Amino acid sequence: MKTLIKNIGLLAGISDATRKEGAAMNEVACLRDAWLLIDGDRISDFGGTLPEGGLPPSGVRPSGSPHHPSGAVPPLSNRGCYVPQGESTSPAETDAVIDAAGAMLMPAFCDSHTHIVFAGSREQEFEDKIRGLSYAEIAARGGGILNSADRLHETTEDELFRQSMERVREMMAKGTGAIEIKSGYGLSTEDELKMLRVIRRIRESVPAEVRATFLGAHAVARGMSREDYVRKVCEEMIPAVAAEKLADFVDVFCEEGFFSPDDTDRILSAGERFGLRAKLHANQLHVSGGVQVGVRHGALSVDHLERTGEAEEECLKGSMTMPTMLPGASFFLREPYGRAKDYIEHGLGVALASDYNPGSSPSGDMRFVMALGCIQMRLTPEQAFNAVTLNSAYAMGVSDRVGSIARGKLANLILTLPGFDTIGSIAYLHQTPFIRKVFLRGQEV
Ligand code: NIG
Ligand code: FE
Repeated sequence: MKTLIKNIGLLAGISDATRKEGAAMNEVACLRDAWLLIDGDRISDFGGTLPEGGLPPSGVRPSGSPHHPSGAVPPLSNRGCYVPQGESTSPAETDAVIDAAGAMLMPAFCDSHTHIVFAGSREQEFEDKIRGLSYAEIAARGGGILNSADRLHETTEDELFRQSMERVREMMAKGTGAIEIKSGYGLSTEDELKMLRVIRRIRESVPAEVRATFLGAHAVARGMSREDYVRKVCEEMIPAVAAEKLADFVDVFCEEGFFSPDDTDRILSAGERFGLRAKLHANQLHVSGGVQVGVRHGALSVDHLERTGEAEEECLKGSMTMPTMLPGASFFLREPYGRAKDYIEHGLGVALASDYNPGSSPSGDMRFVMALGCIQMRLTPEQAFNAVTLNSAYAMGVSDRVGSIARGKLANLILTLPGFDTIGSIAYLHQTPFIRKVFLRGQEV
């Protein structure tokens, strides 16, 4: 099935790169008066005219895609960027044609950090927070993650799947096409496996790209010492998770009152022995040393980073680790926003994700995340755009498949309503209805 989307006012986010860092984060390569052809589940071709001033010299390379229909090396523009061949001629033979009516077509959002498999809600804690209790105080008196663990324990796998799927559907409708989902409300081998099986079922049921992270070390289970619990995570849970191939990544809540850098080191090492790459919760409530442990382990991402200084920045430079910030959690907990702007100015990349969870960020709205990035973290719209698409895809290991407009990538796309034809409008008009259609794997959702 071939679908042509024509009359696109702005085709935004063209890139063959797998992540963007530093100055490259200021650039979003675009074509005006464009078209894009979907063939099956992939982007097969696109074209259009250069916006005034040409495409910025971003990560767009000439060709490089084995899926280019002509197989030819396309020409370069005068600024070293790929100009699609036959740039204003759209293909004649297609099965369906969609008129974009001058609106924007962009990559679907990628959300590299969520906890959307949970049971019930923690609305009571929301009210406790309004009355003045902090996140750490609620956790210390047995609420928080332990509260969610109790609820999850009482919920059947089928019911957990049903509740979680509602969140996934909502996220896809809001334009998210790739979702990382963590366990971590089980805190026993049996319940952690239950969560991860639900994640697997979600992965098999939806067109969004889904990746699973084992976060057994989210809190110490009731009635256990931290030492015993860490041993259980390493010696019992990780082997059990690996035996069923239920996770892609291993994560730890490295934080005072939760798990120390030493615990984290042991758990990440145990995960690596079973082929699980590290991702990490680090520096949320304290300067914890978590970033350094994560980078040492070659973590794909270190996440939160509300509290970091020069030492953290220095150790991230030149690493494969994507600093990932979660402004929805800063907003909800009234915590500082990370220093994304400094990071980018100093040459680092940054990803933004939702942290969708019942305790610190009960929203998976990536457009809101983008708006917080612009308003509270002072990212430019282009920096925020790259942070919620390509860099977030990188932070969950899928930037070779999604996160930008590139030939051969999955056709995970947002077609906006008319009126949205600049990058800045996405966050500026952050409460105005924005989405006309979402395509995941080439199909409208
Ligand atoms: O990323 N900080 C730890 N984990 C989650 C919160 C989980 C919860 O409160 O349920 C987070 O914010
Ligand atoms: Fe989290």
